[in-house]
Order: sequence, then structure tokens, then C-alpha cells
Amino acid sequence: MHSFHYYEGRLRGEGVDLAELAAVHGTPLYVYSTQTITDHYRRLDAALAGLDHLICYAVKANSNLAVLDLLARERSGFDIVSAGELFRVIHAGGKPECCTFAGVGKTRDEIEYALRQGILSFNVESEAELELINTVAGELNRRAPVALRVNPDVDAGGHKYISTGKSENKFGVGLDRAREVYAAAAKMPHIRLRGVQMHIGSQITEAGPFARAVAKVAPVAAELKRDYGIEFFSVGGGLGIVYQSSLQSGQEAWWRQEPAEAAPSLTVEQYADAIVPALQPLGLRILLEPGRFMVGNAGVLLSTVQYLKTSDHGKRFVIVDAGMNDLIRPALYQGYHEVVPVREPAPDAPRAAADVVGPVCESGDFFAQARELPPLRQGELVALMSAGAYGFTMASNYNSRPLAAEVLVSGSDARVVRERQTLNDLIRGERTARDAEAAV
Ligand code: LLP
Repeated sequence: MHSFHYYEGRLRGEGVDLAELAAVHGTPLYVYSTQTITDHYRRLDAALAGLDHLICYAVKANSNLAVLDLLARERSGFDIVSAGELFRVIHAGGKPECCTFAGVGKTRDEIEYALRQGILSFNVESEAELELINTVAGELNRRAPVALRVNPDVDAGGHKYISTGKSENKFGVGLDRAREVYAAAAKMPHIRLRGVQMHIGSQITEAGPFARAVAKVAPVAAELKRDYGIEFFSVGGGLGIVYQSSLQSGQEAWWRQEPAEAAPSLTVEQYADAIVPALQPLGLRILLEPGRFMVGNAGVLLSTVQYLKTSDHGKRFVIVDAGMNDLIRPALYQGYHEVVPVREPAPDAPRAAADVVGPVCESGDFFAQARELPPLRQGELVALMSAGAYGFTMASNYNSRPLAAEVLVSGSDARVVRERQTLNDLIRGERTARDAEAAV
């Protein structure tokens, strides 16, 4: 479900006219829908009602304070991967005791910060990390709550950069070695074993891999509960979304390139049906770490067509003012994002193939290739759909391009939840060698 629709020929986010937003705040502009985020949280929560569970939203997907605040109000927990993300969660009103800390490379400072804040658990990825956590906890005279990330060796499909549950990946400890590591951890004086965790990948659109991974890890979780009194099993994130969206305009979805049935979809109910039966008998608290599912369809990136260009070979280019620095998914993972004109085209508008590209000096700076699009004019606005997850959070200042602004809409209300960077922001904290010398 998402809340971006045409209304009287103009694209809206909930009740807000996106062209008006762009006129006031400029482009590139990220726009997020409150309704979509809360709806996704509530639907997942409801589908798991039969389980003692805690949704720990994966902050990396979208870490804007306003998004975190929304989810904190829904009583979501958070899955963090850095001190910075924990700082954001706390700043937004989230509770540290509902935060799990993932990642293969936690530093001593990050471990200390998280311990002082009192997080729910460190999801530990190696024995070396376990030892460092034990040492740091000892120095602080505390016991660190810990879950071991096990690697179920399940192929979740999808792009190789976002598949994590195979044994050749850097993540977690092999299932066959888990007992050994728990035995070692149980002897560490400053470690408290609280759970077990897994995560098999991202943008998974079938129930099978989740079911297979849960089936593999559940017996181990049961043993760990018996032997070490663990309290939770985190099944990770990964629930995929539909990127070929269906904007509702009352007309045929003419922009769809693939037949509707080709759109991947896994409902929260199907997801729950696949995992709940194997989880329920464990009597453990079940944690989930969804990121993309919660925010992916809740955001669009608005951009203005700067130029139209046709190559010598007749290839058409639509050059927009957003670049790979704003949204890197197409360049990095061949990620698909719908490109939709903000002014609704006539249903019989002719379509022609074009590449939609950004201004960055790289051939990889594209949003769509050979995409069938209606006629677009210079100065016209387009929306890159389903850009709410791993959009702004992966943005950079490459080519010294200021970071885009972010707006959160709710009904007919729109608020800037992050200001556009200025040119001065680009050089904040920097100095020439001459400046540095003068400062001494
Ligand atoms: N838990 C762990 C341990 C993770 O590593 C991740 C994502 C999640 C949860 C959340 O996964 P999700 O529910 O969002 O699939 N930048 C890539 C996706 C990278 C995912 C990294 N880990 C993209 O844009 O497709």
C-alpha cells in the first residue's frame, strides 16, 4: 500500500500536491508519507499478533528523525548498526532498551556508548567481537546483553550485494559452530546471553527462504533456550516490496513495463504464515528487523527534467536534477524505480524508450534505461517512486552536490523534516592548509 496517487491529473502524496511542494522547496526533494509508514508498521504488527514479538525497525533504511519519531510513537523497537544510528533513535524519542545493535565491525567506542545507553542486545557476528564486548563491559562493570548472529546458509535470491544468509558471506557464525560459541560466551563473566539472531538478505519476495531459514534455526534456538535461558529469537529483516507500483488514477496503468503479475509481492500475511507456525512453539520472544518494508513505498524522490537530448544514434536521454548521489540504488544494484510524471499524462499519450539520467559525471548515473515513458518536457517534474528506503540514507555529496531536502506529509499537512544543504554546508569543517596555518 502507498499513498501517492493522481488526483485531478496531479500527483499527490496523501492530500498534498507534489508540484506545489516542489515549487516551494525545490528539487531534488524526498517526500515521505506518514500514513504509509504507520500502515505498514500496523499491518506487520497485526499479522504477528499470535506471537510475543517486537518489531525492531532497521534504521539504515531511512534514519530521518521524523521517521524514527513516527515509529517510536507506534512503540517500535530499532535495529541499529552504528553509534550514530543509536544517537538518532534516542534523539527521536526511541528507547535504547528496545534497540538491537547489528553489524560486523562495531568499534570499542560504539560498544561503550551502546552499553552506557542500555541497549536490548548486541547482535554479535564473531568470536573476536564477543571478546571485545566482554572486555569493554568488564571495564564498565556491566554485563553486556548479547545474541549471536547465526548464518543459516539459505539462498534468499536477489542481488548478490544484498544477499547475506549464505555461508560465503561475511555475516554471522555458521549454524554448526553456534553451540561452541555459546558455550564459550557462557563462560565470559561480562556477557549475558539473551538471544539468537539471523538475517538472510533483503528484498526477498517469496516466503520460501524465510520458512527454510526459520526451520533450520528454530531447533538450535530451542536448545539455546534450554541450555542458556535465551529469551529471544530475531528473524531479521528482508521482507521485499513492490517496486513496480500501481499508482491509482482510475485508468489503465500505462506506465507499467512488465505485466502486472510480474510484480513481486509477498504479503505480510503470507510472510507470517510461513514463519509463525515454526516460531510459536519455541516460547521465545520473536524480534523482526524490517527496514525496506516499513518505508520503501512510503517515499518518492521528486526531480525536475533539466534537458532532453538525443544521441547521434537516436537514443533519447531525459536529464534530471537528481543524481546517483541522491539515489544510488539503480547504479549499485540495478534497482528498479518507477519514473512517473507529476502531471498525469493523457491515457493515450504515446510512449517512447528513454534513459533517465542524472548530472553526475559517471555513466552509472542513471535511474532508468530504455524505459517506455510518455513525452516529458524540459522543466517538468518527475517522481522516482518507492525511494523511501535506502534512498536518502545512502546519499552522498559526490560531485559536491548538496544533500536534498526531506518532507514528511500527513493528510494535507507537509513539513520539512530536513533542510536542503547549502553550499556552505558542503565545506563546513574544512580548511585549506593556509587557513589551518593562520588558525595556529
Ligand atoms: N537486519 C540486518 C542485520 C540487516 O543487515 C538489514 C539490511 C536489515 C535487517 C533490514 O533489511 P530490509 O528489511 O530492509 O531488507 N541498500 C540495499 C539494501 C541493503 C540491506 C542491508 N541490510 C538496497 O537498497 O537494496
